[in-house]
Amino acid sequence: MINATTSPMYKDLDKLLLCSGEIAKRVCALGREITRDYGGRDLVCVCILKGASLFFSDMIRSIDLPLSVDFMAISSYGSATKSSGVVRILKDLDKDIVGRDVLIIEDIIDTGLTLSFLMENLKARGAASLRVLTLLDKPSRRKVELAPDYRGFEIEDCFVVGYGLDYDERYRNLPDIGVLRPEVYSA
Ligand code: IMP
Ligand code: MG
Repeated sequence: MINATTSPMYKDLDKLLLCSGEIAKRVCALGREITRDYGGRDLVCVCILKGASLFFSDMIRSIDLPLSVDFMAISSYGSATKSSGVVRILKDLDKDIVGRDVLIIEDIIDTGLTLSFLMENLKARGAASLRVLTLLDKPSRRKVELAPDYRGFEIEDCFVVGYGLDYDERYRNLPDIGVLRPEVYSA
């Protein structure tokens, strides 16, 4: 396991925001809530690659229901730390979602532009229901009105990495979530 005190990747962080233990506790609580809400329904959990991959794999193991999984990859154009809202589907769902109860699992909602595009796209496909679970939420940065149905943590306006979240494809493998030092992305 990567050690925060010896790993060089941690030197690029200003501070730790959420440690793996806190994340695991929240994942358990969300799992209980979702297990309660989706009993008897036809649940399909959709992982938004790549950022949500770690959160997704922990979440589905804390939902005590029969469910299926599917994956989508989208890219939103923009700089490495800001999205533009112009979104392209890189990998679509394998199966159709007609009549199914779809839970989108995202890593973070920032401006909300990426997710609002995705919701519009999925809404047209005839799901019985469509909800969003996000690990992190930065409501102060929202450019479109969009509230997740479930969320792990609300955070301030800062750029975070770890537990699946990246800067330029790095830091996804950190077990904790931390604030990236601005020098790293402004250099
Ligand atoms: P939005 O379209 O502005 O809501 O941005 C959503 C996407 O931008 C997320 O799925 C992330 O990939 C990325 N993103 C936004 N904020 C952060 C952050 O603080 N760290 C890492 N990625 C982020
Ligand atoms: Mg990213």
